[in-house]
Amino acid sequence: MSAAVESHQPRVGLEETRVNGHQVNGNGHPETNGDAQRWEDLFLPPPLRLDDKIRAQKIEARLSKLRLCGATLRRVAQVFEEELEAGLRQLPSSLQMENTYVPEMPDGTEEGVFLALDLGGTNFRVMFIELENGNLVRQDVKQYHIHEALRLGTGEDLFNFLADCVQDFVISLGMENAAFSLGFTFSFPMKQHSISSGELITWTKSFNCSGLEGVDVAALLQRCLRERGLDITVRVLLNDTTGTLVAGAHIDPEVGIGVILGTGSNGCYMEKVSRVQHWEVAHERVRDVAVDVEWGAFGDNGCLHFIRTEIDEEVDARSLLQRSFTFEKYISGKYLGELVTVVLATLARDGLFPATPKPGFLQTSHVSQMEAENCEGEVKQTLEVLRGACGAAPLGVSDALVAQYVAHVISNRAAQLVSVCIATLLRRMERPRVGVAVDGSLFKHHPRMQEHMRTYISLLAPGRPFFLMGAEDGSGKGSALTAAIAARLAKGAP
Ligand code: BGC
Repeated sequence: MSAAVESHQPRVGLEETRVNGHQVNGNGHPETNGDAQRWEDLFLPPPLRLDDKIRAQKIEARLSKLRLCGATLRRVAQVFEEELEAGLRQLPSSLQMENTYVPEMPDGTEEGVFLALDLGGTNFRVMFIELENGNLVRQDVKQYHIHEALRLGTGEDLFNFLADCVQDFVISLGMENAAFSLGFTFSFPMKQHSISSGELITWTKSFNCSGLEGVDVAALLQRCLRERGLDITVRVLLNDTTGTLVAGAHIDPEVGIGVILGTGSNGCYMEKVSRVQHWEVAHERVRDVAVDVEWGAFGDNGCLHFIRTEIDEEVDARSLLQRSFTFEKYISGKYLGELVTVVLATLARDGLFPATPKPGFLQTSHVSQMEAENCEGEVKQTLEVLRGACGAAPLGVSDALVAQYVAHVISNRAAQLVSVCIATLLRRMERPRVGVAVDGSLFKHHPRMQEHMRTYISLLAPGRPFFLMGAEDGSGKGSALTAAIAARLAKGAP
């Protein structure tokens, strides 16, 4: 497959923001028009409307801790800021704040052919990318499924598999003897030693391979490639958020933040070099550097206990990597379906919902579907999904409305929490305007996510102009652009 498609969505300015039907001005405060709502309440989802008012009230009461108001979000923002500062200073913190060693964005001179690898989900992608004057002129992609046995096996087996895939790919292009520079997008927390080396800190999402924590994953990949006689050099090791930031900045130089909101979630932003303490290479000429926040782990040290609910405890207990990546389990696509399942099961236990959904049946795509129907005032597909999840239990329209309400409360909380992180970064960046490049299935496919995020970010970062931009293929094009930036830096090095 060849493609040279750049996609980005129209910018949406603050002036277009509405919250629960209320216009919000450029300062993020509600317009006062007689029935001015309190700023606080602009964050709350609308009430559940059922004919049975007592049932609706009981359900709302059960879900009250999942509905975060403005004051709670401000507190989350304050804790996030403190953790962020501590992480940058290398003090104890749940935020890694990793120096990526990417000190500049594309300038349009990026040239050459590159291989790019994307490891982060259940599919591993291998790409051939050609850049001319910073533009992508050719992209060939092959996708390889990574079976569970490999995702949960040994690190050595996983990396041998990755190298086999690369070999298969270059053979399929007839380029097995060519020399390549390679960008490796490894979307897990790392301790980076340079732009091309870094150790895995911990696995997340659906990976848990043994023997890799503390291992330099770029060096391991390099060894496996050499063992296959391939003339491929790993030039860049990066996170998918860094790739998204770089790919976004290539489209619009105002982009200063890269975000992934998909199976996992994380953000990366340009930080002033004077605020970053972890350096293992010379950096006298560097002014700003991309920092990978790793916000999925926010709260792993208990600092977010004030928003944790029994529902979150149960989702955590059912997860592959318990007591780890606390925040990711509130916001990312891997967990929203599970959160809805657990809430409905709790309601069923209390006699407020007719059946307990089968564990693992409801996916985040179902949550999106319920939200889409809720926007349209329909229930047909929601009922179908619930029948799949709950078997033969009798389900009626009011049950579909309850499930849609739960899907809405869970989605709203996710949007609020990811917005807290982005708003905090915007406030500290002190730029006249910042573009936020975002990728990930939840951001792309959830019918309300983008609108909620625009709204909540402007409420939480008043007077900080920003725009959200869909930026695809950070791990392909972003990775190749970063490899080209690394080559440019290497040439200019004294
Ligand atoms: C990983 C991050 C990654 C994010 C999005 C998280 O689980 O820790 O490194 O950026 O997922 O893929």
